Amino acid sequence: MIGTGYVGLTTGIGFASIGHRVACVDKDIKKISMLDVGKVPFYEPELSLKMKELQESGNIMFTSDLSNVIANADVLVVAVQTPPAVNGQADLSYIMKAADEIGRSLDHEALIVIKSTVPVGTTEKFIERVKTSLRNCGRDELADVIQIAFVPEFLREGTALSDFLRPDRIVLGAKDEVAFIILSKMHENINTKIIKTTIESAEIIKYAANAFLATKISFINEIANIAEITGGNIIDIVAGVGTDSRIGPKFLNAGIGYGGSCFPKDVSALKQIAGTNGYDFKLLSAVIETNNRQRDLFFKKILLTLRVLKGRRIGVWGLSFKPNTDDIRESAAIDLVQRLVAYGADVSVYDPKAMENSKKILPDSVVFCSTPIDAAEGVEALLVLTEWPEFKKVSFATMITRMVRPLIFDGRNCLIDMKLESSGFEYQGVGLCGLKK
Ligand SMILES: NC(=O)c1ccc[n+]([C@@H]2O[C@H](COP(=O)([O-])OP(=O)(O)OC[C@H]3O[C@@H](n4cnc5c(N)ncnc54)[C@H](O)[C@@H]3O)[C@@H](O)[C@H]2O)c1
Repeated sequence: MIGTGYVGLTTGIGFASIGHRVACVDKDIKKISMLDVGKVPFYEPELSLKMKELQESGNIMFTSDLSNVIANADVLVVAVQTPPAVNGQADLSYIMKAADEIGRSLDHEALIVIKSTVPVGTTEKFIERVKTSLRNCGRDELADVIQIAFVPEFLREGTALSDFLRPDRIVLGAKDEVAFIILSKMHENINTKIIKTTIESAEIIKYAANAFLATKISFINEIANIAEITGGNIIDIVAGVGTDSRIGPKFLNAGIGYGGSCFPKDVSALKQIAGTNGYDFKLLSAVIETNNRQRDLFFKKILLTLRVLKGRRIGVWGLSFKPNTDDIRESAAIDLVQRLVAYGADVSVYDPKAMENSKKILPDSVVFCSTPIDAAEGVEALLVLTEWPEFKKVSFATMITRMVRPLIFDGRNCLIDMKLESSGFEYQGVGLCGLKK
């Protein structure tokens, strides 16, 4: 496993737990030293326990030396980052560097599997790069036989290991039967539908899946905005729409929009892939615009209610881009906290897992609190920006006595069934004009 981040580590642990022997390499020496002593460098439920078990049985090991991993490998899985470049395209520098490194170290036949999300055509460029590197090192025969495949990863942070072990489907993209046989063997202990296809289709499948889910979110956010203007309530609307089996209820939660390390970058990358091939993917431009506007509208709602933010204390619950992770990459919550600070507000925040990561990027003036109630102490408004289940367990009766003004802006509509208005709170969600009291 090359790259031991959210995907590489989960996939490595996943493959080890279904009976393979896995060696994981990462450039980040700090990460490897933590993993070596059984510590997962990020928060992901289930991962720690499983990893310790596998380390004890010797089925997984961690190293910062690529040659250790390559030495006995039948399969090399590449899961390095493909972050967005400034122009919205995927930055392929990490993955191409990995290709050069593999080419320099590989001395035997092995199947290379790309798991990073990459634009169509990248897997092919990757193997060409490996081959050039092999030839430069005088290993021409190996360059002639080396095989490549693309196997997209669909795991979600927060439920990563169970997603790996019980996926809706596995997509195998390869060029020849030998590669398909190896890939099938790698996944044989996972009971799910296997879709075999070309490398190009597999590359597009990954982007199409994420772009479709992002589109669903932006679509329901547009409906929520219409509901808010015209007097509807998005919860009832989603119940009426999402129960249609052709549509389904998932990814239909209105709020402040999607974030995270995947949706924003993958939607932009797909739009750019289309653009560089002469096709204007108009729908995706609208999806991105709607997603950005969702945060603006939410912020405007706060400004309209409070008028002035300068010198006022505002509480924030939730910093991670979604619950059950400490990942704050492209988090809407982080963006909104930064806007509050820019407008001169005094901000107190609480998140169950993402405080350490957030401290590295939020301004020093932000107060990090150890409980949700502390974050609501003395505030003139509380913003709920990530739908952590624990927020529903807070004693709102206690909280109301601590707030200067019992005003809640729920950016995820996650407290809606707490009926906070009947307990004396002013409650504003997203798309909730016709809310039943
Ligand atoms: N995070 C997700 O939920 C998710 C889900 C599906 C697919 N993906 C895709 O998987 C890929 C990885 O995502 P991630 O979130 O795990 O990224 P990450 O940033 O958490 O991890 C990438 C790791 O690769 C390491 N690395 C980079 N170059 C290396 C090299 N040459 N040799 C060894 N290690 C190297 C980095 O140090 C880092 O630890 C991306 O393409 C992403 O789009 C992510």
